[in-house]
This record gives sequence, C-alpha cells and structure tokens, in this order.
Amino acid sequence: TELKATFPKGFLWGGATAANQFEGAYLEGGKGLTIADISPGGKERMALLRSNDYPLEINEAKYTYPNHVGIDFYHRYQEDIALFAEMGFKTFRMSISWARIFPNGDDAEPNEAGLQYYENVIDELKKHNIEPTITISHYETPLHLVKEYGGWKNRQLIDLFEKYARTILERFHKKVTYWMTFNEINTGILGSFFTLGMRNESLQNNFQALHNQFVASSKAVKIAHELNPDIKIGCMSIYATMYAYDSNPDNVMGMVEENRMFNYFCNDVQVRGEYPTYALKYFERNNITLDIQPGELDLMKEHTVDYLSFSYYMSSAFSKNPEHSDKSQGNFFGGVKNPFLEASEWGWEIDPVGLRIALCDLYGRYGVPLYISENGLGAIDQPDANFYVTDDYRIDYLRKHIEEMEKAIRLDGVDLFAYTPWGCIDLVSASTGEMAKRYGFIYVDLDDEGNGTMNRYKKKSFDWYQQVIATNGANL
Ligand code: BG6
Repeated sequence: TELKATFPKGFLWGGATAANQFEGAYLEGGKGLTIADISPGGKERMALLRSNDYPLEINEAKYTYPNHVGIDFYHRYQEDIALFAEMGFKTFRMSISWARIFPNGDDAEPNEAGLQYYENVIDELKKHNIEPTITISHYETPLHLVKEYGGWKNRQLIDLFEKYARTILERFHKKVTYWMTFNEINTGILGSFFTLGMRNESLQNNFQALHNQFVASSKAVKIAHELNPDIKIGCMSIYATMYAYDSNPDNVMGMVEENRMFNYFCNDVQVRGEYPTYALKYFERNNITLDIQPGELDLMKEHTVDYLSFSYYMSSAFSKNPEHSDKSQGNFFGGVKNPFLEASEWGWEIDPVGLRIALCDLYGRYGVPLYISENGLGAIDQPDANFYVTDDYRIDYLRKHIEEMEKAIRLDGVDLFAYTPWGCIDLVSASTGEMAKRYGFIYVDLDDEGNGTMNRYKKKSFDWYQQVIATNGANL
C-alpha cells in the first residue's frame, strides 16, 4: 500500500534541547558561569530572577540548581544520540553554551576544550546521519557580561557576540548547515532576564537591548553566509496565536496591537530587515530613542534570515472587558482564559488548531520557509516498576499538532520544513527549573532533589514517534 506523503521528502523530524537545560557539567572543561547557572530551581524561579534583591550568584545553602547537573548529557551524549538515531531523527536542535567557548564572554582567546566538546557532539550526530541545528544563544549569556556590562543594553555585547559567533561558525561551518541566532528573542520585549540578562529596566533599555541583538544577529547571518553560502540561518521567536475573546471591535483592535508587538515585531525586523512603522510610532509614544549607529540599519536590511523558526506551546485570548478577568495561567503573553481550550498541568492552554493558524499567518506574512523549533507537552510522568511511562497524553498532544501541520502543508501550501518537539529527552524546565515537568520521548531517572540513577528509558511515545518519522508523518 502506498503511504500518504504530505510531508515533503527530506522533512526534518527531530527534537530540541538547550545546553543549559541538559548538559550539566556546569564547571567542567573550562566553562564559565552563565545566567542559567545562578537561576534556582522551583516555581519561584522567575519571580526571584525578576527581583533586584536576588543576588546574581550561587547560594547552595538556600536554593537548588538542577541545571548544574542537568541530565549529564555532557558525559552521556553518545548514548543519547544513539537513542535519537534509533527514533530516526533527521535533525537535532541544540545550543552552544557561550561560556564553554568564552568563559567570561570577553576573553581574548576561545577555550579549545569547549570547541572540542561541541565538535565531538557534532561528529557523533553526523555519524548517525543527524543534521545538527545549532542555536547560538539560548538563555546562556555569560554571567560576567551581566554583572560587569549590564547585559544586552550595553552595545559592547554586539562585538563580543560577534566574536563568539564568528569563532563557532568558523569552526563548524563545514559540518553544520542549520543555525539559529537568538532563542525566543521576542521575550526581550517584556524584559526577560533569560534573553537580555537584565531585570526591571526601562522600556528604553529593553528596546535598546533588542536593537543590539538585532544587529548582533545580522552580523552572525553575514558571517555564516560569507563562510558558506549553503548555510541556512534563522531567527527564533515564541509565537502564541492571538485571538480576540469575542467580536467586540475593541477587543479585536487590542488583539491586533498585542499580536504586532509580541508575534510580529522581532520577525518583522529579522525577516523583512527593518523596523515596522507601528514600532516606530510605539517608540515615539513611549519616548524611546534608540542609539542606532551608522550602517546598522543597512546591515539589518542586507542580512536578513533565511528562514523563520518559532516555538509554539499555546494560544492567547485578548479581552479589555473587566468581566474576563480570569487570566490564563502560565500564559507568557498574559491573555485571559479561553473557554474553548483545556490547559496542561502548568496552565498552558492546548490548541492544535492554533498551530495551523500560526503557520498560515506566518507564511502569509513572510513567505519564507518555516521551522517549528519547539512544541510539546510538559507533564508529570508516572513510570511503572520497570521505569516504563505510558504517556498517551503526550502522544495525543503531539499527534493533534502534527495533524494540523499536515493540513497547513496540504491544504494551505505552507512551506514547513522542520519540526523539533521540545525536550525530546527529559530535561530541566526553563520557567520553573525543575525535572518534574517532562517533555521527553526518553525518561530520565532523576528527580528535583537530584535523586535517581540518571538512566534513560524509552517511553511509549518513543515508539510512536519512531513510527511517525519512519512513515514521514503518514502514520500518526
Ligand atoms: C521555551 C524555551 O520557552 O519553552 C525552552 O525556549 C523551554 O528553553 C521551553 O524549556 C519550555 O518551557 P518550560 O518552562 O516548560 O521548560
């Protein structure tokens, strides 16, 4: 029997991770501290990081730091990559930790041990015919650059980042085709500590920091293409499909405004190469004057990204009506509860159709190839006595999202070329710094207190995803 073949030949099925959330070995191989290393585990993580009272240092007497050991991918990468290969991964999204290469971020020379480590990981992937996708910066700014330079509002970070990006691109441009510059760059609009290395600062500083990242990103794009014109280098934003709560025109206009700022602003700059008019007006109204150096706007215009990647976990509903005061929990964009949707245990509203809407919207607006660089369900898994997890809820979540991707390709003509579900192997969560919130196809025996063997076990979803990949998305 012939299989339905909607997903294009060569579609990049895979999984996604970030160095700080799974490598562990936080002081090994000459690595310096990053902002992730001083981020404590637990539900209060984000609130602590936002508060200026929280000292930017490790305090083991008071807090736990699950990232410090991660799931020890640093030492176990061969075993883990073999499991990814067994699932049939075509690509594996990982980040390089800046502080493994430049421990302080401003060192004169790169750390060869860090470069060698990533070279080993890349070679191991290639040995299994898995294409690496490398995020250059995923919540891993060296701590020194935050403490001594004040984070991304400081223009000096542009040059320091350029040096770091050049170093890894020069080293790996022959081996790695797919790159991304900044993970979820648009979280910076809200002043995210993870992306900007800043907290509680003015809108002026947040947007200056973003401008500096746009310039830095364009520099990386330029370097990548000069080294190897075949390289595909993309931007990466968090995208939450935005609804008006109802047909009240005021709510629809409010939705339009939210949508522009959160879902479009960074993509507009990085894909189209210029600040959109609504942003210029927003800057004007809010007395934001960017320090833009000569040549920077030309650089941004000339060196736009090759593709757009985005993370998609949930949608968001907008209402100005005070009666709709029930905020949806965990929603990064602060929307109200959508009565049509159910939420995960962490309050993230599950919306597969919203993913098709996102794909249509982004492809319609930009017309560039799309890469879904994150998607998935963070859940509490209950392994049986043999450490087997029957995670039908995860299969159900992913299946429904993949079905909508398929429709976007078949019915809407969207050019989608890659899908890397988040945390393909259990790892430390970003917003709450815990192991208990699991996304993986592979269970890691480790809890929030650090107990466990760290052995790896295939979940039910492992076999399911293997089948999805083997049939190129036909058998869901
Ligand atoms: C994205 C990040 O925001 O979502 C990842 O790029 C993160 O780093 C993922 O892990 C899921 O969020 P969380 O908080 O469940 O880990």
